Amino acid sequence: MTNSTTHWTTLYKNINIATMTEASNSYGIINQGALAIATGKIAWLGKESDLPYFDENTVEVIDGNNQWLTPGLIDCHTHIIYGGNRANEFELRLQGASYEEIANNGGGIVSTVNATRQASENELFNSALKRLTAMQQQGLTTVEIKSGYGLDLNTEIKMLKVATKLSEKLAITVKRTFLGAHALPIEFKNNANGYIDLVVNEMLPQICAQKLADSVDVFCEGIGFNLAQTERVFKAAKRHNLPIKVHAEQLSDLGASELAAQYQALSSEHLEFLSEKGIKAMAQADMTAVLLPGAFYFLRETKLPPIEQLRKNNVAMAIASDANPGSSPIHSIQLMLNMACTLFRLTPIEALAGITCNAAKALGIDNHTGMLKVGFDADLALWDISQPAELCYQFGVNPLTTLIKQGKSIL
Ligand code: NIG
Ligand code: FE
Repeated sequence: MTNSTTHWTTLYKNINIATMTEASNSYGIINQGALAIATGKIAWLGKESDLPYFDENTVEVIDGNNQWLTPGLIDCHTHIIYGGNRANEFELRLQGASYEEIANNGGGIVSTVNATRQASENELFNSALKRLTAMQQQGLTTVEIKSGYGLDLNTEIKMLKVATKLSEKLAITVKRTFLGAHALPIEFKNNANGYIDLVVNEMLPQICAQKLADSVDVFCEGIGFNLAQTERVFKAAKRHNLPIKVHAEQLSDLGASELAAQYQALSSEHLEFLSEKGIKAMAQADMTAVLLPGAFYFLRETKLPPIEQLRKNNVAMAIASDANPGSSPIHSIQLMLNMACTLFRLTPIEALAGITCNAAKALGIDNHTGMLKVGFDADLALWDISQPAELCYQFGVNPLTTLIKQGKSIL
């Protein structure tokens, strides 16, 4: 990156900046700051009083009115492409049925699979577009979206194509995760190993050939897949050079995080039942713990993820919405900030790091986004707040005033 100001296109002045460059240790605050953009990247940032000379005739100068600038937000774990909804199961759970009972009786993920198989690509696109538009309006510039409601080759491909189209329609980066091993489809009842054969021998190769996935995920759980099956998917992901993520230790401790660490996974996600051994293994492998307070809340879980031990072991913590029809029909990253603090007792700094720098780490894109640094993507959110903690503290009034994706103002 050149020091020259001649390529600057836009300059934000009179702003307070939370750079989020120090992980969970501080906001990295620059008061009375300025930030310049050139070719979609951050070209300069610092104190306004330290601004170098630039040509006011060629640079658009924007007065930030003393508002706060943060990295554009990142929701690193969602399942927003699906048919139908599961409001009926919400009612059943309120009458006493558990999430696992509903799944074991043919409801749960499998009921969404039926609706998703029946929906056309267009229908899936339109319903997901509504969700993603609402999510973007809360400050998202990057989102991860998982497949996993198809569980057959064509529907998994249909979902991943919709994910690709969403990023073309909205100015938002979409990271696509292949979650073929999400649940056992009816046609493979009592034959989970046979289904894993299909996932690793047919689905993954075809999806890779069409370049439709950026990573691979598995739901390792009693109602999902066991460790041996999970490992087969990890091995296949390695063969295809795709990064690994895992739904782990959500309802029980199967040791999926330790297994994922052996495969240098990017992240392990949910983690309410994560053991000390799992934490050590994650720390060793520099994995990110993705915490999902929306699912914890919506399933009325009582066991908290081991936040204090994750902290002690310096495991980076990301926060995500897990937006999905069954365990977290919640499409608000701002609400996740609040819940990360109130339910999981994260500090507001940790919560904001969880949806910026640490979320980028969970997606393997922390070398160019999630922080405000020279050379990084100019993915920025401008907030009408008086201090960063306000983002976590109140909920329901949207303080976002401007959203910038790769240097372009989109909201
Ligand atoms: O992250 N845990 C597995 N998958 C989703 C739930 C999906 C569903 O219930 O539809 C989750 O919670
Ligand atoms: Fe999930």
